[in-house]
Amino acid sequence: MRHETVEKSLNLMMVLIVVAISIGGLVEIVPLMMSSDATEPDEGISVYSPLRLAGRDVYVREGCYNCHSQMVRPFRSETERYGPYTTAGETVYDRPFQFGSKRTGPDLARVGGRYSDEWQRLHLIDPRALVPESNMPAYPWLAEREVDADLIVAKMETLQFLGDPYTDEQIAAAIGEVTGKSELDALIAYLQDLGTNRRSRR
Ligand code: HEC
Repeated sequence: MRHETVEKSLNLMMVLIVVAISIGGLVEIVPLMMSSDATEPDEGISVYSPLRLAGRDVYVREGCYNCHSQMVRPFRSETERYGPYTTAGETVYDRPFQFGSKRTGPDLARVGGRYSDEWQRLHLIDPRALVPESNMPAYPWLAEREVDADLIVAKMETLQFLGDPYTDEQIAAAIGEVTGKSELDALIAYLQDLGTNRRSRR
C-alpha cells in the first residue's frame, strides 16, 4: 500500500531516487577521499616545474587527450607495452587528470625518455616526417609561440593556494625558467617527464 503511494507520486519518487543515489555515491566516494593511497603523492612524485606546468597547459589546450590516454591499466598486455600501471598517488598534482580513454595514438603515461628531445621536436612539427603512416596532426605553431611567464606565476600561486607544495622560492624562480622558451620547449619538457619517476616499479 505504501509502495503504491510512492509509485504514484512523481515528486516523492524523484526525492527518494535522489536520496538512494546519494547514499550509494557517498559510500563509494567518501572512503576514497580519506584514503592516503588516493590523496597522498607516491614516493618520488613532486609538483610540476614551471616549464612542465606550461607544457601541460599546452597539452590540454591542444586537445592531445582526444587521441592519447595517460593511464596504463593493470593488465599484463598494458604493462608489457607501456611500463608500470598508473596509480592514483602519481596523479595527485594533475588538475585535471589526463587519464583519457581514447587511444587513437599510444598511451603517453610512460613516454618520458622514450625518444630524444629532437625526435619529439620533429614529430610535433611534422609527425609524418618520422612516422609516414601517422594520422597525428602537425603542431608547427608551437615553436613560434612563447610561454607566458606571468601566467605561469599566477597559476603556481593559485596551485599553492589550493595546497600544492610549491615554495615561494620556486615561484620566484619561475619567470627565469620559462622566459624565452617556446610552447614547443614546454610541451617537450612535459612529455619527457611523463612517468620517469615510475620507471623502476612494475
Ligand atoms: C588525431 C589524433 C591525435 C592527436 C590529436 C594527437 N596525436 Fe599524438 N599520436 C597519434 C598517433 C596515431 C600516434 C602514433 C603514430 C606516430 O607516432 O605519429 C601518435 C604518437 C604520438 C607520440 C609518440 C608516442 C609513442 O609512444 O610512440 C607522442 C609523444 C605524441 N603522439 C604526442 C602528442 C601530443 C603532445 C599531442 C598534442 C599536441 C598529440 N600527440 C595529438 C595521434 C594523435
